[in-house]
Amino acid sequence: MIEPLRVGVAGLGTVGASVVRILSRQENAMAARGGRPVRVTAVSARERARDRGIDLSRYAWFEDPQELARSGEVDCVVELIGGSDGAAKETVEAAIDAGKHVVTANKALLAKHGLALARKAEGRGVALAFEASTAGGIPVIKTLREALPGNAISRLYGILNGTCNYILSRMEQEGLSFAECLKDAQRLGYAEADPTFDVEGFDTAHKLAILTSLAFGTEIDADAVYVEGISKIAPLDLKMADEFGYRIKLLGVAERTKTGIEQRVHPTMVPKATAIAQVMGVTNAVTIDADAVRELTLIGPGAGGEATASAIVADIADVASGQAGPPFGRPVDRLEKAERAPMQRHEGGYYVRLTVPDRPGAAAGIATRMAEADISLESILQKRSETAAKDPHGKSGAPVPLVLITYAATEAAIRSALEKFAGDGLISEPPQAIRIERE
Ligand SMILES: NC(=O)c1ccc[n+]([C@@H]2O[C@H](COP(=O)([O-])OP(=O)(O)OC[C@H]3O[C@@H](n4cnc5c(N)ncnc54)[C@H](OP(=O)(O)O)[C@@H]3O)[C@@H](O)[C@H]2O)c1
Repeated sequence: MIEPLRVGVAGLGTVGASVVRILSRQENAMAARGGRPVRVTAVSARERARDRGIDLSRYAWFEDPQELARSGEVDCVVELIGGSDGAAKETVEAAIDAGKHVVTANKALLAKHGLALARKAEGRGVALAFEASTAGGIPVIKTLREALPGNAISRLYGILNGTCNYILSRMEQEGLSFAECLKDAQRLGYAEADPTFDVEGFDTAHKLAILTSLAFGTEIDADAVYVEGISKIAPLDLKMADEFGYRIKLLGVAERTKTGIEQRVHPTMVPKATAIAQVMGVTNAVTIDADAVRELTLIGPGAGGEATASAIVADIADVASGQAGPPFGRPVDRLEKAERAPMQRHEGGYYVRLTVPDRPGAAAGIATRMAEADISLESILQKRSETAAKDPHGKSGAPVPLVLITYAATEAAIRSALEKFAGDGLISEPPQAIRIERE
């Protein structure tokens, strides 16, 4: 008779309560897989009396999650409290110090302390598993860690935040503003009361840092990620993107370049025909470019109690069957220090939207300036104002959008050209620049 793996769940919110439910529902099926049976023995949260839709009388209750972590009734601690420091970090550290395996969904904790925690876990010979930390129910960590050893990965990019993708999808489909869509996302529970962390790209950056480490064998470094959110995207940008055959997505992109590993989060134009462009609403997706498998795209639910708990339970099953390897796929001492590629040297196509006076020659003037800056244009489109369209000479002087699509140029060249346009009074509003991701 094999002794069951005794699981302690610290945090019984959206994900924690779902983990307890799934483990109870799947208990027999998991035992039938032939590994070690899994049993929840202890739980912890702040308020014992809160109705969580689960019968807590079956489990030992701990007011203090650190005590749960040290309890002799627990072999594996599931941390679902959240936050990069405080109770979550203390619980994980206490568990590792006590020789307990750890499973967590906490991307903020990993992005900030992942390296130190992985080192600690390896030193103590316990698992630190975090499939649920990135892209919710999509098994992307397992894919990177276990399924692709025959590949050199050149690039990875993904939609890693459902809130942003929901907002951009609604803006595109209904022509609504960012503010209107954000309000709806908050009403529907897709966005927090303070949405900054999601809409300004920081949540995506945390997840990208985790994926970069696994994909490229580098030390996790969230500070190396260039971050730009979606709050400045206008409905007009989505409309223009559509006219040029693109969609706008908030992507996290990690890429091996001549200047090092680029990690960047920003609104991105992706060709409409790509798999990632089809991903709408709160769904997440990750595309991996690798030499042997070529292109692999995983699509699925990036959040939600049950979907995230599904990933947690997969990690618990690995712990139960003794399959958990080093947290980042290779021992911490073999992770490389990443060369951080500076964003100014990023090279790619750009969508640039300028606001110029509606006069003949305005577009030609801008095109000449771009040529002088060594930036080649693939397309240029000047939208006419309604008054100008009716004027036989076609000049109203009213501000109108002028949209440029460039061939590959450096970030530095684009930024310096835009600064010059503003300095020379050629544009009447701050310019918009959105990077285009090649297929
Ligand atoms: N929700 C998702 O869809 C999702 C998806 C992917 C990853 N995640 C990650 O999963 C983790 C949990 O998220 P969640 O949405 O389930 O959060 P949540 O609903 O806010 O639940 C947090 C839980 O932690 C408990 N807690 C907070 N402080 C505590 C403390 N000091 N001691 C003991 N318990 C404490 C809370 O207790 P009370 O219930 O008593 O207040 C609550 O049960 C986070 O790291 C999050 O980033 C969530």
